[in-house]
Amino acid sequence: MKRKVTKAIFPVAGLGTRFLPATKSVPKEIMTLVDKPLIQYAIDEARAAGIKEFIFVTSRGKGALEDYFDEAPQLEQSLRKTGKDDLLETLQATNMESGAIAYIRQHKALGLGHAVWCARRLISNEPFAVILPDDVIAADKPCLQQMVEAYEEAPGCMVAAMEVPKEQASSYGVLDVKEDKGALVSLNGMVEKPKAGEAPSNLAVIGRYILTPDVLRNLNKKHVGTGGEIQLTDAIAAEIAEERPVHGFRFKGRRFDCGSKSGFLQATVSFGLERPELRDDLMGYIQNVVSQQKAAE
Ligand code: G1P
Repeated sequence: MKRKVTKAIFPVAGLGTRFLPATKSVPKEIMTLVDKPLIQYAIDEARAAGIKEFIFVTSRGKGALEDYFDEAPQLEQSLRKTGKDDLLETLQATNMESGAIAYIRQHKALGLGHAVWCARRLISNEPFAVILPDDVIAADKPCLQQMVEAYEEAPGCMVAAMEVPKEQASSYGVLDVKEDKGALVSLNGMVEKPKAGEAPSNLAVIGRYILTPDVLRNLNKKHVGTGGEIQLTDAIAAEIAEERPVHGFRFKGRRFDCGSKSGFLQATVSFGLERPELRDDLMGYIQNVVSQQKAAE
């Protein structure tokens, strides 16, 4: 029987320079959409997909991330005393069971493939997931759960995929499609950030992966790719070249690129509008701003 996916790697070593000066002292992954840090969205999604072990690949200055997952007994006690049960529940949802979470340092910024490779000893010989917390996906069924279910039927590696405007393809890993079966897409290859006009399709890789340990073995070769970095895309493409199965998976949901300011703001508005206690107020404000803008034109 196929092994269940119970481990996930969260590459969180990036400097987050696009969000300076905030990221001078706050890890990007702690920045909040409404009131929940980006990393909590990723953890919640992983839990929904059945992940039991959470591996963070971190770097210098990410201490706040480790603290975030610690229990906060004083805070809990104070909320209990004052009868703030709903907040207590919210807080307790952030607690991680001892031993369920591991931190590995990526000592050099050598790329996403290298970050994943840094966690190799914690993976051993089983399939694993990778979640990039910058990609926040709003969906009725969480994206990784959709993938884990699809993975039951499709062996090998799986990458989340989404159509992007052609001119944006060079910002992504891009799929070279062999057979389009709807949700599942089989592949001839994958290219990391192709040059303008050279993308094999406009189907882009989004930051959710289910990978086999073979990918870690490919990463052992430390092949340097686009941008002088060790690319995860290349290590997955090497699986296709070896004729081992790799699928793209068109997930159902809306993806926000929270690695960009505009994407982050869009996600903030979108998640804010989903909250019943904020919706009317926020909607009223947005309508006001839009009509003022229109009047000024
Ligand atoms: C990474 C991957 C890329 C993927 C993207 C999705 O790139 O290398 O293949 O398409 O995430 O967000 P990054 O955005 O970290 O440059």
